[in-house]
Amino acid sequence: MVDTDTAEHFRIETDADNIAWLHFDKADTGTNVLSQAVLEQLDLHLQQIAAQCPRGLVILSAKSNGFIAGADISSFTKLKTSAEVMGLLETGQAVFNRLESMPFPTVAMIHGFCLGGGMELALACRYRVTRDDPGTRLGLPEVRLGIHPGWGGSARMVPLIGSIKAMDLILSGRSVDGRTGKRMGVVDRVVPERHLRSTARRMVLDAPPPHAASFSERLTNSALVRPLLAGVFRKQVAKRASQLHYPAPYAMIDVWRKHANDKAAMLKAEAASLATLVTGATAKNLIRVFFLQEQLKSLGKDKTYQPKHVHVIGAGTMGGDIAAWCALRGFNVSLQDQAPERIAPALQRAYKLYKRKLKVPAKITAAMDRLMPDHHGHGVGKADIVIEAIFEDAEVKRSLYKEIEPRMKAGAILATNTSSIPLEELTPALAHPERLVGLHFFNPVAKMLLVEIVNGQSTSAEVSAQAMTFTRQIDRLPLPVTSTPGFLVNRILMPYLMEAVVLEAEGIPATLIDKAATDFGMPMGPVELADTVGLDICLHVAEVLAGHFNAEIPDHLKKMVADGKLGKKSGNGFYSWKKGRAIKPKVGSGDWNIEDITNRLVLRLLNESVSCVRENVIASPDLLDAGMIFGTGFAPFRGGPMNHLDAVGKDALLKQLANLEKLRGERFAADPGWQQLA
Ligand code: NAI
Repeated sequence: MVDTDTAEHFRIETDADNIAWLHFDKADTGTNVLSQAVLEQLDLHLQQIAAQCPRGLVILSAKSNGFIAGADISSFTKLKTSAEVMGLLETGQAVFNRLESMPFPTVAMIHGFCLGGGMELALACRYRVTRDDPGTRLGLPEVRLGIHPGWGGSARMVPLIGSIKAMDLILSGRSVDGRTGKRMGVVDRVVPERHLRSTARRMVLDAPPPHAASFSERLTNSALVRPLLAGVFRKQVAKRASQLHYPAPYAMIDVWRKHANDKAAMLKAEAASLATLVTGATAKNLIRVFFLQEQLKSLGKDKTYQPKHVHVIGAGTMGGDIAAWCALRGFNVSLQDQAPERIAPALQRAYKLYKRKLKVPAKITAAMDRLMPDHHGHGVGKADIVIEAIFEDAEVKRSLYKEIEPRMKAGAILATNTSSIPLEELTPALAHPERLVGLHFFNPVAKMLLVEIVNGQSTSAEVSAQAMTFTRQIDRLPLPVTSTPGFLVNRILMPYLMEAVVLEAEGIPATLIDKAATDFGMPMGPVELADTVGLDICLHVAEVLAGHFNAEIPDHLKKMVADGKLGKKSGNGFYSWKKGRAIKPKVGSGDWNIEDITNRLVLRLLNESVSCVRENVIASPDLLDAGMIFGTGFAPFRGGPMNHLDAVGKDALLKQLANLEKLRGERFAADPGWQQLA
């Protein structure tokens, strides 16, 4: 690959003790990443430093946000063949081998993220010194992109801390802070920011023996133990991901099992295996999902918008959790409800959340202090953003707006969390309809990354941009959609859920329907999802959508709701529920055709996706994919519904739809949008 990047990315300084300090500051980017050009420059600098024979070398980052975030992923996507990938991997391995073989002490001085290729570079140093704060994260998250380390990450991590801890980090892709890293043996010193430089310097001057794995850790790397451990690792991985859909962790286990005690062989095998993975469909799609996430993040970057106070009305399932989340992210929040008894449980849930997320008592207290119960709604007049999360009833919402709008600050945003009501049905109550926007959170708020930014016909561009910025400020992903019934995610999800209800009514066991969906790659089957969301809520959204799209609602669902079978919350729905878990009877596949079940579910979802693209509910098919992946967990390795549609092929899918329409009726009629697809 020819790399035209000639900008200078490094700066060397040599101090009075003859220690070389190599500052990494990738030109033209806010974050340090490793590209071919960066690696080549690093190599030249290392050769130059080696020739100068300093007392030692400290590698540090000049960026305030962190050390090194990893490889430059966009450079991977430009590589077309395994041979090209091998070239990049061999360059990286050669540079890190050079770094490792320096005859003087080498130190990685780490603050912020030290991930993927950055971690691999740090592992090639003799010592690692990190800043002591939760924002400093070390890890090898490659499996999340459908690949595994290829610049010596596993070849060096395994001998350093033993197979159990090393493979846990690599196979899960999770990151750890400096303290945890120190306990694991990955990090040598963890110090406050003000001592980072002096500690790195001392490591060079004192040159203590480098960390070595204990006897029992070394034992886990031996040829005798590895085959046994490999079985355990495979079982653990299988609980999270199937080999068919996510081959990377399985490939990593194979490489490790065969070569873990032979570093040269391990390096070769790491690279060869990664080169195969990176050109496969799963890695391509997961890397695409990574860029889609970046695209959503880039939507909310207006630094001039700085809201401070959020007022939430409705302390139920959603409002309570939205308020808690906003306070967790640093906002002052007042929480109002007409029923004061709804507020206390919301605060209790917030406390649980803060305990889990913040751990430190002083931080938990501070977050609780930011979350203020406000039964009478005094916060309305102080808030920069008022979020309404009351009952899903247009009339009730309109009458609330009439009451609060005159009390709101000039320029404050009014956001509704409605899950299906078009904004145009709400604006008649407002003197300033331009400041109404939908902020549609998903349940559970603390887990679901997506927030649909619903733009009504009157919503001003400024308010929409501010809503997106706010969404980023609370660390969520904004997805702009138009104010059509059900918006994007629920509209696409609903036909899929309704088909599951129809399948169940035909006598197909719920367990089997769910299995068909999870085998396809969904995180949860549609029947369990309907039970979890609540069958009354599903029915309500389905009714709203049916009113607009002339769709059928299965009688079976109506009867269940009428009988009080609401799913998880009532203890029974399609499943019986015990201690928050669905009791799933074991069933064989019987005479049912699993492929047919999958097709019926997926085709209804794809057909509705095409309809949303045609109606411009969303700006692009890419954004639709992002919405369905981050809003519903749609099989990420398939890259989203529209990407899946492309991969299978429009003609093949249209044929299946036509067959199903003949057999099952009009609901499978292909949307006119299929004809507009390339
Ligand atoms: P919920 O029934 O749990 O809570 C609604 C709360 O609003 C209740 O505590 C009620 O006392 C309060 N309330 C009603 N009218 C009020 C008024 N005039 N003034 C002050 N408080 C009032 O409902 P949930 O599930 O939290 O839903 C709220 C909104 O969020 C709805 O628009 C719903 O469609 C939407 N939504 C719900 C999701 C879910 O999974 N439950 C997901 C996404 C959106």
